[in-house]
Amino acid sequence: MARITAGVTSSHVPAIAAAWDQGRADDDYWRPIFAGFDWSKKWIARNMPDVVILVYNDHASAFSLELIPTFAIGCADRFEIADEGYGPRPVPPVEGHADLAWHIAQSTILDEFDMTIINKLDVDHGLTVPLTLMFGQPEAWPTRIIPVPVNVVQYPPPTGNRCYLLGQAIRRAVESFPENLNVHVWGTGGMSHQLQGPRAGLINTEFDTAFLDRLTTNPEALRKLPHVEYVREAGSEAIELVMWLVMRGALGEHVRELYRFYHVPTSNTALGHIVLEPTS
Ligand code: DHB
Ligand code: FE
Repeated sequence: MARITAGVTSSHVPAIAAAWDQGRADDDYWRPIFAGFDWSKKWIARNMPDVVILVYNDHASAFSLELIPTFAIGCADRFEIADEGYGPRPVPPVEGHADLAWHIAQSTILDEFDMTIINKLDVDHGLTVPLTLMFGQPEAWPTRIIPVPVNVVQYPPPTGNRCYLLGQAIRRAVESFPENLNVHVWGTGGMSHQLQGPRAGLINTEFDTAFLDRLTTNPEALRKLPHVEYVREAGSEAIELVMWLVMRGALGEHVRELYRFYHVPTSNTALGHIVLEPTS
């Protein structure tokens, strides 16, 4: 039987990719950011998943205002790297797991989640930056990835509670897949960030720290958080944090926090990274 053994959250700020790809990871500005993932790189090398269900948002690379799925799932065997205007990043293509992805699509849809099925999907920084932070620059990514794009770009995004419920449905789907697979669920994006307007650069460390605390110990409180509170407290793009609740819902009621890293500034944002292990 497949089982979910860990949850990971990570920033996906594109400047991280630019720093890495241009060989600036050891610059004074970037060194502490990459060093914050040293523990996680060692941990994941010892606990390598067969598949990562990677919850992220597309940034008008694969989708546009013409097509805005709220929840979607990549069911292909391979996903190419998106060209975001500067050319595609020089990273390996992403290998999917079509059998598990189709199983999750079927299970969640029959569980009354209206997932959009995607058979061709180019993946942007939302998905590739977390891979770089966790795996560096391998010849090929060391795990299969099932992309789960969530709309947090065009109002209205799904509620945090709906994201949590989707995570629970993903858990039921994974646990009913007959193959013996070690599966991680990653939530990406966040934390405090406001990229435009008079509040650009807003950082609310108190909000972010409380969010990280509650992610481990009191997700019920986070499920109730309305959109306006994310936006008011931590900036308009902090709405990306609802994606972390898909990850948290997939882990079950009780979790143990294995590792945490929080760093400001990362470009215009606060970077939050946490590794959780289900205990129930
Ligand atoms: C930026 C873009 C993002 O998608 C994000 O999540 C954070 C920062 C940026 O352009 O700086
Ligand atoms: Fe983003």
